[in-house]
Order: sequence, then structure tokens, then C-alpha cells
Amino acid sequence: MKRIPLRRKYRPIDGRLLNCTISFEIAEYFLFASDVEFKQPKNFVAVPFKYHERVELTIDDITNLGMGLGRIDDWVVMVPYVFLGEVAIVRIHKNLKNYSIGDLIEVVKPSPDRIEPKCSLFGICGGCQYQHIRYEKQLDLKRHHVSTAMKKLAGITFPVNECLHGDRPYNYRSKITPHFQKSVPPIGFLKEGMRTIVDVEQCPIATESINNSLGAARENILRNKSSLKRGGTLLLRDLGQRVETNPKVVVSQKIGNFNFSYRAGEFFQNNPYALPRLTNFVVQAALGPKYLIDAYCGVGVFGIMAAKNFEKVLGIEVSETAINFARQNARANEIDNIRFIVGVAEQIFENAEFAGSETSIIIDPPRAGCAETFLSQLIAFCPAKIVYVSCAPDTQARDLKFLAQQYSIEEIQPIDMFPQTRHMENIVVLKWKS
Ligand SMILES: C[S@@+](CC[C@H](N)C(=O)[O-])C[C@H]1O[C@@H](n2cnc3c(N)ncnc32)[C@H](O)[C@@H]1O
Repeated sequence: MKRIPLRRKYRPIDGRLLNCTISFEIAEYFLFASDVEFKQPKNFVAVPFKYHERVELTIDDITNLGMGLGRIDDWVVMVPYVFLGEVAIVRIHKNLKNYSIGDLIEVVKPSPDRIEPKCSLFGICGGCQYQHIRYEKQLDLKRHHVSTAMKKLAGITFPVNECLHGDRPYNYRSKITPHFQKSVPPIGFLKEGMRTIVDVEQCPIATESINNSLGAARENILRNKSSLKRGGTLLLRDLGQRVETNPKVVVSQKIGNFNFSYRAGEFFQNNPYALPRLTNFVVQAALGPKYLIDAYCGVGVFGIMAAKNFEKVLGIEVSETAINFARQNARANEIDNIRFIVGVAEQIFENAEFAGSETSIIIDPPRAGCAETFLSQLIAFCPAKIVYVSCAPDTQARDLKFLAQQYSIEEIQPIDMFPQTRHMENIVVLKWKS
């Protein structure tokens, strides 16, 4: 096998061996040693590439999972931590039915949009996929991910708006949950593509306050390690004035003039710098009809923020705890035209005492998207407007394919709530086809 030497300029990224930026000589030693250390797995299919064969790949696309994609003799090869137009040396570790996957060994021709990642664990920790890409290009990439999902999974070619974002590409996350096992360290996040944990002492996408508190939280676990009976998860939730570490404590957070209470360990959007852009867009998009339904409403954020623009608002959510907070939040924000119901989303239709034709509905389901029963009842209810918020444009596109029978698209708006990662929120505004 021809060995392709590493270049001094670029950091080799091999999550299984290297855990920091190291010198050219050491990197080369480890990578060549790894050829010996990593025996070919028993179930490895050696077609079309041999185990650990190195190939030169030109990157034509980036998938929604953040993988660079190129072709060798029409065969697709995927590799992480690259960008469009780059030429990379890739070491194959898996041949699947339709494509192969490899590790990035070297970037031979870097993109002008490649930058130095801020985190020394980038490429090892599974939290971030895009730190090596200039932020403006990350935004373009997310817009591209949405438009590809819409086209491929739903046949939708409607133009996607430029990706909105907050003012912090780093130090934005107000909640992190590092994991640990019975034997510590490591205390941190899952390694890229693996079930093992990588030790994280600082996380540059988390707020400064979280990073200032992380040392003490880790120290506390390490000090008591002999009494640990099992692994667990730490919580660090930045509330502005302090960092909360007890998931059961009730905390509150402001969005504009509104104040929301919830339990520190439970769901609340965790980028406060971009959150007003998300809530403002959703509220504006829902305006028009007399009534509003907030399905999958959590602690009531969208419904409460929009309520003064509607005669009546109805929220539904499967978690009773969240609904109790939603009711409390409505009272605290002096909103009295909103009612909340505990139940699965489809139960909303038997409880709505107003006509669909006079209703806007906001839907913000978990990553898996909406149940088919919900979607068919939604179409039968025929709301005038649907504002579909999603953190998973692929399941959103699947659901839109169904809704497109009766609804036309008014706007598609991605919002980057998770800079440096492949994740985003996407909002699609739909109008009943008259
Ligand atoms: C992505 S969160 C959105 C929460 C809220 N809209 C917000 O922005 O804070 C999804 C919510 O849907 C709830 N949920 C999950 N499955 C549900 C279902 N079948 N019916 C109603 N709510 C559900 C979850 O408990 C969670 O609160």
C-alpha cells in the first residue's frame, strides 16, 4: 500500500487515536502505527476498497449528517470534517451496500472557507461537526440541508430563506449535560460515532459561565469517585446570574418581555441569543386568523407569546409537568385567553371549540415528527394556517409531503440555534389551498 505522508500544516483527525493537536512527526508515527494496531474487523466487506485503503477524494457535497461526500469511479465515499471543493486523503473503514465511509487523514487542497477550529477536541468529541468551516458558510450549508431534504423527501422546490441566527457563533449554549460512567474520568460527551465518552474540561460552544462552573462540577464527581455506584449525567444550566446544577430546581428565563418557569433539567431552547428570532418569526407567521392552537406546546412559550393577537388560544402537550408550568406561565405573564390540555397532540381536535377555517396552528413536535393519525386529523380540521417548527428537516419534509395535498407553502425559514454543529431549527409556513 502506498503511504501518503502527512503535511505539517494540517492536523490529522483520527478520533480513535489522536486526542489533541500533535506534531507532524508524532502524528505520522501514530497513523502508521494504527495500520498495525487496527486489525481488519471480521465482518469487513473488502469491496470496493481494502480495509484502511487510502483514497484521494474531491468533496462535492455535505450531507445533513455533516459528512463530506465524493465519488471514486461513481462509487460514493463519505468522510467527516471536510468542506465543499476540498481534496482529502481518506482512509476507508467501512464498505456499505451503496457507499463507503472513511476517516479524514489529510486535507490536500483546503477550501478558502476552512478555518482553525476553536476546540482542541474537535474531530474527537461528537458535539460539533462544523468548527472548521467559516460561520457564514455554515449558514449556507444549513440552508442547503433544508432545501435538499425538501426536494428529495417531499418533492418541494420552494425557495428556502437565508438562515437566521443569533449574535454568538460560540459561547451560546445555556445548557450542557456531560456524561460519566462508574469509573471517572472521562466526564464529557460521546465520541464522534461511538458510544464511549471523551473527557471535556471546557466546551467553547457553552457560555462562559458554564465553562467557569464546569471545573467545580467535574471536581465534585472526581472527589467522590470511590463512592460512585453507577454512571450519570451532570447538568449545567446558565440562568444569567448563576449556573444551576440541580435538574429538579424550578428556574425562570426571559424571552423579550415574557418570563417562563420550568425545571432546570427539562426541555427549553438552549440558545438564548437566537431564541427571540425563533419566537418572533413563529408568532408573526401565525398571525391572521382569530384563534390559535399551540400543539406540542411544552411550557407554553409560543402560545403565551402570541396570545394577545388572538381571541382564544389552546395548547396541548403530553407532559403533565410541562402543562402545569404552562398554566403557571400564562398567569405570571397575565395571559387569560389561553387554555392548556394534557394529552397527545391529536386530542386537540376533539377539544377545539372553534372552526379550523378561523384557526392558526403551531406544531413543534420532537425529532421523530408527527404521528400519521395527527396529520390526517389536522387535514380534516383544515386550519387556515400551519406553522411547522422542527429540529429535524428530514422528518418535517416527510410530514409536509402529506400536508402538501391541501396546503401550499408560504415560507421556509431555517434558524441556526446550534452554531458549529449540523443541527438547526426549520420553520415552514403553510396556507390552506383555497
Ligand atoms: C420540541 S419540544 C417543543 C416544546 C415547545 N414548543 C417549546 O418550544 O418550548 C416537543 C414537545 O412535544 C411534547 N410531545 C412529544 N410527543 C407528543 C405528543 N404525541 N403529543 C403532544 N406532545 C408531545 C414533548 O413533551 C415536548 O415538550
